[in-house]
Amino acid sequence: MTGRFVTFEGIDGAGKSSHIEALAHWMRARGHEVIVTREPGGTPLAERLREMVLAEPMDTLTELLLVFAARRDHLAGQIVPALARGATVLCDRFTDASFAYQGAGRGLAPALIGHLEQWVQEGRQPDLTLWFDLPAQVAAQRRTAARAPDRFEQQDEAFFARVRAGYAARQREHAARFVRIDAEGPPAAVWQQVVAAAEARGWW
Ligand code: TYD
Repeated sequence: MTGRFVTFEGIDGAGKSSHIEALAHWMRARGHEVIVTREPGGTPLAERLREMVLAEPMDTLTELLLVFAARRDHLAGQIVPALARGATVLCDRFTDASFAYQGAGRGLAPALIGHLEQWVQEGRQPDLTLWFDLPAQVAAQRRTAARAPDRFEQQDEAFFARVRAGYAARQREHAARFVRIDAEGPPAAVWQQVVAAAEARGWW
């Protein structure tokens, strides 16, 4: 028995976090074991790497290597064992974020990121990716109300416009697993799309 691996993506301020918890609740109510986790992070070591990546100035390739190091530890210590026992894993960000942020946002070549993806994931990909999409300008307005910005949240609107375009490119390349959620509307409208995407798969 293999569980399902679901990832959540979008630019900072897209509002995905509350929907992840709500979807976990929705699935548990149907009798499924659900793990909620995040990247970078999800294991003690990967959470330490997260703190560095979000706070310490570093060059872009170092940043990419650290998120993939965290990812490897997370896969080995948390994601793969959970899937092996049949649990659903809901992960707040995964490798599409590396293509969007370190690739489209910071300018690293997609082919380089693809090599790390192959190496670290050994062919494993999410079964379903919910991409919370909205214009960079709207996301920026939502972020201003939030807490002190980290290294990514400090970036300008042009950076987030590139990250958004990076997600759009990933959706085109991985259309079978990618569902675009229009995240610009009110939370109830966004939630309806999230549930519709989960129900459409027929897995839960
Ligand atoms: P985020 O998931 O937005 O968490 P929070 O809601 O606590 O701010 O923060 C993680 C940040 O890490 C986000 O700005 C995107 C960035 N990130 C990358 O740049 N590359 C990656 O591969 C991943 C997983 C995240």
